[in-house]
This record gives sequence, structure tokens and C-alpha cells, in this order.
Amino acid sequence: MQRSAATISASLKKVPPFPPVAAKLLSLLSSPTVDTNEVADLIGSDPSFTARLLQRVNSAEFGFVSDITSVRRAVALLGLDTTRQITLAHATAAYAEGGLRTDSMRRCWQHMVATAVLAEEIAVACDAFASVAFTAGIMHDIGRLGLLVAYPDEYEQVIRNAAELSLDVLDFEQEEFGAHHAEAGRLLAELWGLPPEMGLIAGRHHDPCEGTELDLLRIVHVACRLADVLGYDVVRPLSASNPVDIIAELPARARERLMRDPAELCGRIEQSIREFGSEPAQAPPEETLALLASSANDPAPAARVSEVNVESNGVADALVTTDSLESASQPTAEGRKRAIGLWIVAGLVCAIAAAWWFLR
Ligand SMILES: [Fe+2]
Ligand SMILES: [Fe+2]
Repeated sequence: MQRSAATISASLKKVPPFPPVAAKLLSLLSSPTVDTNEVADLIGSDPSFTARLLQRVNSAEFGFVSDITSVRRAVALLGLDTTRQITLAHATAAYAEGGLRTDSMRRCWQHMVATAVLAEEIAVACDAFASVAFTAGIMHDIGRLGLLVAYPDEYEQVIRNAAELSLDVLDFEQEEFGAHHAEAGRLLAELWGLPPEMGLIAGRHHDPCEGTELDLLRIVHVACRLADVLGYDVVRPLSASNPVDIIAELPARARERLMRDPAELCGRIEQSIREFGSEPAQAPPEETLALLASSANDPAPAARVSEVNVESNGVADALVTTDSLESASQPTAEGRKRAIGLWIVAGLVCAIAAAWWFLR
């Protein structure tokens, strides 16, 4: 059944909202520094999050001798990591029965994790967008998850048919739902009040890269395509792409890093997939790994992206500032941001998966 863009927009509005406090935490983390008091005040603005946090901090589990009644004090005592675990566990508690229950959901989640790991590799190699690349990668296909919730049976069918009939999945989605998953992702990011950069990544990650500058969108675009050819795809691409051609969109430093040890790179992707309780669907294609690895010994192809142009072209300007302010000598803050972002998104995916389960 064909639908209009207005219909899909109305259907996505019915997708359960991502808890506002968790969505705002995600925004907070895109600022250069995370202020503990700001996090505490945000949690304190929501009675149910406040109650949950105070209940836990006063439980025997933590063993504090006096009663803690202030959220700021609770956050200071627990630290950001534990606070994050408690609040996001609470955010997803309503969906506790959820999980990645279908093969399509699992593949979708695995593709997002693979894209996130690859995006981070590229960003770290180029020393640009390193603090946000993982989160951007893991958020880029939220539109697919949204479509799976809004149209569970129909979208499963679209994925199956696109694979079997070798159809372009974006065209097929557009035809079936009146909008493809990238547009659905942009709409969802807007509906949930996520940072504008996330909406831009979700909405434009399939657009061909323009210009010669390395921005966050280019990083995610290449990471998504590379994840596909490494076997972490949702729908098999229409024609098999050469991984070396895909990474030619990147500066030499990123290409060298990706070609250095592709098998080890895939090992890291699979470890991340397992950390979320999923099992990688299949081993990466040997020939793709061999192609990448053998290219490492070839003279580097001419770079399409200049090393000197590793900067923003208007995409996520604020995030450039974030990156330039953070040096590689701050792995702890970097890791913490990544972990918090990852848990927020994991909560989001669980929420969507569970909503799908309840609504079907
Ligand atoms: Fe996509
Ligand atoms: Fe993707």
C-alpha cells in the first residue's frame, strides 16, 4: 500500500517518545565540557528521575551513612557513570520486556554499531570529530528503527523484498511509505528534540559527499557504506562496492588506519555488538578483508579529501569547536562521553524495539 509523506509523519508521531531528560542529556554531551551540576539540575527537573536517583543513592547498595536528599550531592557522590546507568536504566524500565526480537531489528542494530565503530576509527585517525563520531554513527539509521515501529510487518517485508528483488531500498521505502528511512530519521530527531546535528546526519547520510572537506556527515556516510561491504548490512547493496573505492573519500591518514588490519577492525566491531548482547550475524567476507589489507601495501591512491581540509563545512559547527578543544590527551573524558552517548542510544533502541513488540 502506498502512503503519503504526511501519513508517515503522522505515524512517526505515534512512535513512543525518547524520554526528554535522556534526549537533553544527549544534547548536553555535545557541549565541550560536561558540567556535573548541569547534569544534576537536568535530572532534578524531572520528578520521576529524581525519585529513582535518590532511592538508589540511599539504598544499602552504596552504603552512605547519612540520608542524601539533594540531586547535586547524589550525582557528586555517585559520579557521572553511575548516574548515567541509573537514569538511563530508569528511562528504559518501562520497556524492560523489550529486546531486539526480529532478525531485521538485530541486523539494523548491528549495522548501526558497525557504522559507529568505523566512524570513530576514521575520526580518531583524522583527529577530527572524535568525541561525537561514535554517537553520530549509532544514531544515523534511527529512521529505520522508526519505520520498524510504525510499520513493523510492512517494513520487514520491504527489507525482504528489496534484498530478494535487488531493489534500491531508499526508492522502495519512498514508494511504500512516502518517505525513505533517512527522511524518517530526520523527522524523528526533530520530534524527539535531539541536537540538530543528529537530525542532519540521520537525514542526509545517504547523500553523495560534496566538496573536499572532511565533515561529520562524510565520516558517517563512508562508515555506513563500509559497514555494508564488511557484511554488517541491513539490505545487501545493489552492486558490490570495492571497499578501497569507498574509503577513497577519506584523507590518507584514515585510509591507512582502516587498511592496516581489517580483520582486527572487524573484531572490534564484533566485540561492540556482543557488548549489547547480540551475536554478529555472519563473518565479514574474506575477499573484502583481503582487498582492504592488500591495498595497504599499494601506493596510496590520490586523496579526494585534502589533509589540510579536515574541517567543518557547516555541518555541526558546534561539534568542531568541541573537537578542537579536546585533545587526544583526554581519553577519560572522551571515553565517558562515548559511554554515556552509547547508553543513551542503547536505551533508545531498546525503547523502540520494545514499543514494536508491544504494538505489533
Ligand atoms: Fe541509512
Ligand atoms: Fe547506514
